[in-house]
Amino acid sequence: MTQPVQLAHLSWLEVEAYLTENQGILLPAGSTEQHGPMGLAGTDTICSETVAVAAAELCGGLVAPALAYTPAPFNTGFPGTLSLSGPVFEAMAAEIMAGLFNQGFQRIYVVNGHGANIEPLTRVAAELLPEGAFHLRNWWDFEAVQGLRDRLYGAWEGMHATPSEVAITQHTHRILNPGRATTPPGRLSPEYVAAHSGDRHGSPEEHRRDFPDGRVGSHSALARPEHGMQFLSLAARAVADEFQHFAA
Ligand code: NI
Repeated sequence: MTQPVQLAHLSWLEVEAYLTENQGILLPAGSTEQHGPMGLAGTDTICSETVAVAAAELCGGLVAPALAYTPAPFNTGFPGTLSLSGPVFEAMAAEIMAGLFNQGFQRIYVVNGHGANIEPLTRVAAELLPEGAFHLRNWWDFEAVQGLRDRLYGAWEGMHATPSEVAITQHTHRILNPGRATTPPGRLSPEYVAAHSGDRHGSPEEHRRDFPDGRVGSHSALARPEHGMQFLSLAARAVADEFQHFAA
């Protein structure tokens, strides 16, 4: 049996032994929110966690339990979305990161899967941790991953319930019938994309009115499980390389 790479699957003795060799830890950050007609509510958490675990298996890292409850207020008009308010999320993230740091994990690498996490996590870490102790990376940010998204989906990748994230969950969990997602969503203008990056969306009512099936410019039905396998392996390789440098 291979050595487990998730903190939750180790004993304290094993954690202590890890810390004598390595002070880096991967912290997945996702969300619990609707992802359109054929996307799972845990999509962001599943993607960030599976990328982190696969990366840790490649480089001998360790993965902390994921931040699965995060801010997604704009999606609360859809069943299955659980959103934390900004102050509660920041307080929770601060205590988890401080706890990790104080226990000896002096390099905290967030594998992120949810746009709304970027700003608060970066700010909290800057207030809390010394320079160089924190790094946040979206799993889709790497050149190889971006390149594959562009080749497979072009502009249909969109902003939410993206075919790439749905493809990863198809590979790791299950494939849902596209149903209402068979029809392409409305196209987003470049102005819309620029104005709403980092998940800066409107009220729940407005959001459900403007995006009635939950997709935001993403043609989820282009997803295939074999794409998901490719995304996972490209992202894991890139995270493993970056994490090794960061933690060294
Ligand atoms: Ni997502």
